[in-house]
Amino acid sequence: MNKFKYITSTTGNYNLLKQYAKDNRNTATEAESVLWNRIRARQLGVKFRRQHPISDYIADFVCLQLHLVIEVDGAYHYHGDVPENDAKRTEYLNQLGYSLVRFTNEEVIADIDNVILKLNQIIKDMNTTKQTSSSTGWSEPLQPDGQSTSPSGRRGRGMKIAVLAGDGIGPEIMEQGVAVMTAVCEKFGHSVSYKEALCGAHAIDEVGDPFPEETFQTCMEADAVLFASVGDPKFDNNPNAKVRPEQGLLAMRKKLGLFANIRPVETFDCLIHKSPLKDELVRGADFICIRELTGGMYFGEKKEGTDVAYDTNYYTRYEVERILRVAYQYAMQRRKHLTVVDKANVLASSRLWRAVAQEMAPEYPEVVTDYMYVDNAAMRMIQEPTFFDVMVTENTFGDILTDEGSCITGSMGLLPSASTGEHTPVFEPIHGSWPQAKGLNIANPLAQILSVAMLFEYFNLKEEGALIRQAVNASLDQNVRTPEIQVEGGARYGTREVGQWIVDYIKKA
Ligand code: IPM
Ligand code: MN
Repeated sequence: MNKFKYITSTTGNYNLLKQYAKDNRNTATEAESVLWNRIRARQLGVKFRRQHPISDYIADFVCLQLHLVIEVDGAYHYHGDVPENDAKRTEYLNQLGYSLVRFTNEEVIADIDNVILKLNQIIKDMNTTKQTSSSTGWSEPLQPDGQSTSPSGRRGRGMKIAVLAGDGIGPEIMEQGVAVMTAVCEKFGHSVSYKEALCGAHAIDEVGDPFPEETFQTCMEADAVLFASVGDPKFDNNPNAKVRPEQGLLAMRKKLGLFANIRPVETFDCLIHKSPLKDELVRGADFICIRELTGGMYFGEKKEGTDVAYDTNYYTRYEVERILRVAYQYAMQRRKHLTVVDKANVLASSRLWRAVAQEMAPEYPEVVTDYMYVDNAAMRMIQEPTFFDVMVTENTFGDILTDEGSCITGSMGLLPSASTGEHTPVFEPIHGSWPQAKGLNIANPLAQILSVAMLFEYFNLKEEGALIRQAVNASLDQNVRTPEIQVEGGARYGTREVGQWIVDYIKKA
């Protein structure tokens, strides 16, 4: 599986690079070559992340999830207990489970294309190595028949997907998500294996823990997690319940380090009349909210007394900077407009956000950065949703604004999301578990299916994602819709029928 997704660099920003040059530890040319690498790596579709623990030691590039370290004349950046001697360093990294590839500065400067070529080959080889799982419970990989290759002739990959269906309508929509995933893998020649794991109310009932250790292990072994929904009214109505399904979700976010929650707000032309807002306001609205997901009040120090209670909106510079980087990367790939949403006129934590954003903005001169108070942003989203391109905000504001965002499109049942960060990424619908609809075959599976599209896109498998989106659009166009969005007099399709229609479409495409 291609996990060449995050790259870490100690020389991760311009100022640092300049500092290196100034200290004469690097010449300006060397510093430039590092930067050049970053640019090229970006062209490969990788994302950067700074300040991973290991990046304090390892110069230039670290592919965290591939466990590949790419050194470009890196030795003089090393400090801490990393040996400077090349052979010893190789041994040290191998012990940590990293493999190593080395380039010299000369090589990089002279022929960057050749370096990229070599890197691509290494990554390809790592991708095609069959993963042999040490643990059990993973389904036998569904191997494509060997005839199927991707329409563009790419080679297939192996993927391990943890399936967390959760509560309420979760299992029903998940069944359709998995069916679509399997159909796409067959079509494009990827082999895929699944493992189901408990979470939410269901997990509390069975093992007393909404995110059991075994589920965590399954997530860590997987390349990606497909998540449906958790929640059950029997907990909602009991304020004294000690464990709640939602705690499972929070534990998952924290333990997997999922600090970036990506929630796109897209409109589907044929459903615009469902929006509570006027057609002409909503038409063309297309933005992404990037919500910080592992900090702020959700996880800050709390006190819950009978007379006093508080939650602390705690943020560090590091947390703010890494989420802003994600936001800038999205902005760069889109319409290059970033709105930083905060409450800097009142909150200290917001002032830190704003200060960090203002420092970082000059690194992205192509992006127009604006700053908006959260109350104003909530209003603007209703008044002029087309104003936004990428919006970034802290955990609690993001929670509130994304519910608002989801309803302006008129179709909460259609919106997927991704949560990414340090470990396995999670893909899930933004809606809840809708317990009242459980087992009725009426829940809309499209958000789950589009979450599968986001999963493929995360791994840079763009055609796969595009085919799913095309299938979803076709189903809507042809009125193959679940009841809540069906046109008057339209035929009745349930969760299963919509899923099956989309699977058939993909097979025929
Ligand atoms: C969400 C949900 C969760 C949150 C709840 C279920 C804990 O509302 O994903 O937006 O508040 O983050
Ligand atoms: Mn929410």
